[in-house]
Amino acid sequence: MSEVYDVPARVREGSPNPMTTMDGYRAAYAASMDDPGGFWLRETKQRLQWMREPTQGLEGNFHEIADGPVRWFGDGELNVTESCLDRHLLDRGDKVAILWEGDEPGDVRRITYRDLHREVCQAAHALRELGVKKGERVIIYMGMVPEAAVAMLACARLGAIHSVVFGGFSADALRDRVRDCRAQIVITQDEGLRGGRPIPLKETTDHALVGEDSVEKVLVLKRTGADVGWVEGRDVWWHDAVASAPDSLDAVPCAAEDPLFILYTSGSTGRPKGVLHTCGGYLTWTSYTHQNVFDVREDDVYACVADVGWITGHSYIVYGPLCNGATTVMFESTPMYPDPGRYWDMVERLGITVFYTAPTAIRALAAHGDEPVRRHDLSSLRVLGTVGEPINPDAWIWYHEVVGNGRCTIVDTWWQTETGGHMITPIAPATPTKPGSATLPVPGVLPLLLDEKDRIIRGPGQGRLCIDMPWPGMARTVWGDHERYVSVYFSLFPGRYFTGDGCRRDKDGYYWITGRVDDVLNVSGHRMGTAEFEASLVSVEAVAEAGVVGFPHPIKGQGVYAYIVLQPGYEPGDDIETLMNQQIRKEIGAHARVDLFQFVPGLPKTRSGKVMRRILRKVAEGQPEALGDTSTLADPSVVQAIIDGAKSL
Ligand code: WTA
Repeated sequence: MSEVYDVPARVREGSPNPMTTMDGYRAAYAASMDDPGGFWLRETKQRLQWMREPTQGLEGNFHEIADGPVRWFGDGELNVTESCLDRHLLDRGDKVAILWEGDEPGDVRRITYRDLHREVCQAAHALRELGVKKGERVIIYMGMVPEAAVAMLACARLGAIHSVVFGGFSADALRDRVRDCRAQIVITQDEGLRGGRPIPLKETTDHALVGEDSVEKVLVLKRTGADVGWVEGRDVWWHDAVASAPDSLDAVPCAAEDPLFILYTSGSTGRPKGVLHTCGGYLTWTSYTHQNVFDVREDDVYACVADVGWITGHSYIVYGPLCNGATTVMFESTPMYPDPGRYWDMVERLGITVFYTAPTAIRALAAHGDEPVRRHDLSSLRVLGTVGEPINPDAWIWYHEVVGNGRCTIVDTWWQTETGGHMITPIAPATPTKPGSATLPVPGVLPLLLDEKDRIIRGPGQGRLCIDMPWPGMARTVWGDHERYVSVYFSLFPGRYFTGDGCRRDKDGYYWITGRVDDVLNVSGHRMGTAEFEASLVSVEAVAEAGVVGFPHPIKGQGVYAYIVLQPGYEPGDDIETLMNQQIRKEIGAHARVDLFQFVPGLPKTRSGKVMRRILRKVAEGQPEALGDTSTLADPSVVQAIIDGAKSL
């Protein structure tokens, strides 16, 4: 049985938040289940600045989701930027809102709530001048600069819908997203900067936009000063448009259920889907979870080192922390630049108290040993968070012992792009932790495990993880395709939200996420669909068929394993492997690549032509003995060839 770690007294002491003990947690949880509508109405009225306070809690349910999304706070009206900016001006005007650390260590900018309010208003003016109106889509394709957050909030100020595209995505991927949401404006920068290396964001944008007629303007921030191409009449410099704009702008009233943003994410089939979050419910959820899970306090220096291109950056760098009036760190660089002590150097210099990162970074850093950590004074730390993939107990214990020096608590937060915010996680001052377990559900979250016969598992057991009741932060739909939303999330188990994850519940009711049970890969915390890889691979001339699965990888969590059937006349070889990875880089982005290729005579298929992915998975995982029944295969000899030629790192 795994060890239980009690919350250290110094973590609990002085907490201003409501759930500082397990009794407090249980009481809040029970209240949220008894009367969800009433519970969240109370929370939202305390947390958010409403223009018109809502009187309605929840409307709709998962059984009727095909008829339309659920609604929270349906009669309320607000603009999320008033909660994130305006109302802090009185008490926190001079408090640092965004504490930015650039690519070079010590290149720091401190942006107060007053500064941020002004910059957001100016950027909103500029966007309005460029034609942006409520409901229009704006793509943000930037690196980790404060202006990325300013751009998001400026859109929100106008009621426009932003869609941030991670700066590692390729021109093809950016174009797909521009097209899917018919974006009117793209905001980018001349270049990004990461680990001393420039990233040609403007050039990639230019490639992506060739022939795209929806985009009228491209707003370009100067970050490195590099020479960039320029399309007269379309391109506008940020400093020309924003700096001289008026410094206040009335926030545009939005309905609680108006869209706030679209974020594209990968699923098990087809193209990435535009997950849509709305104003009132999303901000309530991110504010509630950010404050309670991390036990955020007024003078905390809170750092989430994710990228704003992913949901973690949206919820826990920008919206949750700013709604709570916190000081939120934004980090442009990488954990390895200039050396593996970078995070800890930053913790010491900036006095970081809450630190939130991904298991893949923890494993990569642990591989460099303890010295880069030990040479820094990390005594300011109180809460350590992880997100994005299951954390193995070894990495958890290293994080706890070496980074936390045994004095911090760890919050292993399980959630998804679709959930908007934390779902299963310790509450920092309250929940005793177990290495590798995301522990217990947040108030308002009703998890359910279903076995292979779709029966509900009561008590300890392992199955597929569903959520049985709507919560305010959930995604409302897929942009432009509500049917796809219903079929992906609500059709396997009608009336329930299916997460795509497997999960075990132990005798204490603690949840242990075991990873995806669908065809979604999680590589270094980046979510990617096997279908996207396969589509890209078969577009290479030499490739006839491709089957892609994940395999356990010591640092990345999962690596990508591709089975390739070549067209007649082609020979396996390194050059073809390079070509295939170049194609993936072109169609998806620099963060995607195949780690292991295996050339095979054919894919294992049933007589009806369906690829038996289970076989591909087991061989890639190095468990050919666990293949199970292969008697339904059209050509069983393929399996032996696959087993004989299996690759490993
Ligand atoms: C995985 C990231 C185990 C999970 C916020 C989920 C986790 C997917 C954890 C969502 C965790 C995230 N423990 N697995 N603490 N957090 N995951 O949409 O498989 O990028 O379904 O959201 O990451 O990835 P996404």
